[in-house]
Amino acid sequence: METNRTLGRSGIEVSALGFGCWAIGGEWQNTDGQPLGWGKVDDDESVRAVRRALDLGVTFFDTADTYGTGHSERVLGRALGKRRADVVIATKWGNVFDEETRTSIGKDDSPGYVRRALAASLKRLDTDHVDLYQLHISDADPERAAELRDVCEELVGEGLIRAYAWSTDDPARAAVFAQGEHCAAVQHAANVLQDAPEMFALCEELGLASINRSPLAMGLLTGKQAAGRTLEAGDIRNTPPAWLPGFKQGAGADAAWLARVDALRDILTSDGRTPAQGALAWLWARSPRTIPIPGFRSVAQAEQNAGAIEKGPLTADQLTEIDQILQR
Ligand SMILES: NC(=O)c1ccc[n+]([C@@H]2O[C@H](COP(=O)([O-])OP(=O)(O)OC[C@H]3O[C@@H](n4cnc5c(N)ncnc54)[C@H](OP(=O)(O)O)[C@@H]3O)[C@@H](O)[C@H]2O)c1
Repeated sequence: METNRTLGRSGIEVSALGFGCWAIGGEWQNTDGQPLGWGKVDDDESVRAVRRALDLGVTFFDTADTYGTGHSERVLGRALGKRRADVVIATKWGNVFDEETRTSIGKDDSPGYVRRALAASLKRLDTDHVDLYQLHISDADPERAAELRDVCEELVGEGLIRAYAWSTDDPARAAVFAQGEHCAAVQHAANVLQDAPEMFALCEELGLASINRSPLAMGLLTGKQAAGRTLEAGDIRNTPPAWLPGFKQGAGADAAWLARVDALRDILTSDGRTPAQGALAWLWARSPRTIPIPGFRSVAQAEQNAGAIEKGPLTADQLTEIDQILQR
């Protein structure tokens, strides 16, 4: 497998594996007290994990202004330091938050907010440009999004961003953004348990990169989640909102999802892969445009996930076998 992929039509080269920086933002919540992070994290370990990933050839990092209400961007900026020039940073805007109380307070899809959010992200990331700027409101009104796309084109012209994308699971919405010359990608959910055939087809048709969030099904595919294993109180998976599948209120992983993971174990662990590496290998095999961005919270996870690159994609036969096992 080529170890690099291109971000759609932008010409920007990234490693075929990106790292997702949601968990390293630490804890925050919404105004109802719903946790939005992954529980407590150790910032020094997060910094070491980012640097280890760099050493192992990872050059693409996905974060968002709202992760840890700015904390993820700050930790990433600190970890990169002088190596900023060696990497491609993707961040997101659209969620409004209070850094002091670590609370998410709503959304803002107004054109005027884009510049304000970007200025704040640049400061936290300690950089003068964002490589890929992503709209974080997955269900935003498409007409409004067209206006936001035009603002992004202006920001490209001013050198403040290099390209942009919409983080959405809706192909029709992704197509609205794709009408812009510098739209390079769509970020969407995809993993071996949650195929996204329409989105993959759209990326192929429009020449977009497919940036895959939740490539490990939020940890379900790593083999670490077992029946009866509960999660800490501040972890969003312990009180999963409606859009988060695979986990049950206060009860850890859903048994039906664990059974599907179990059924795939032999294929995912072929050629000495760990289950997490097998899950990433499925995405690379699924389309030449995919760039999975697994989350991480430790050096060990960074090493294991980066180790998937040299093992490469699953085979076409293995993909077929997986579809048969999952009856799709
Ligand atoms: N645009 C959006 O709205 C959106 C939504 C979701 C995610 N994202 C992006 O996508 C990224 C990844 O998706 P995700 O956060 O949903 O989850 P994911 O990548 O499917 O799962 C990540 C989690 O799995 C566990 N893990 C990772 N590597 C492991 C390994 N080698 N062995 C054992 N466990 C391992 C870690 O959690 P534990 O150690 O706690 O188990 C980690 O936080 C995020 O970081 C974020 O950048 C974007």
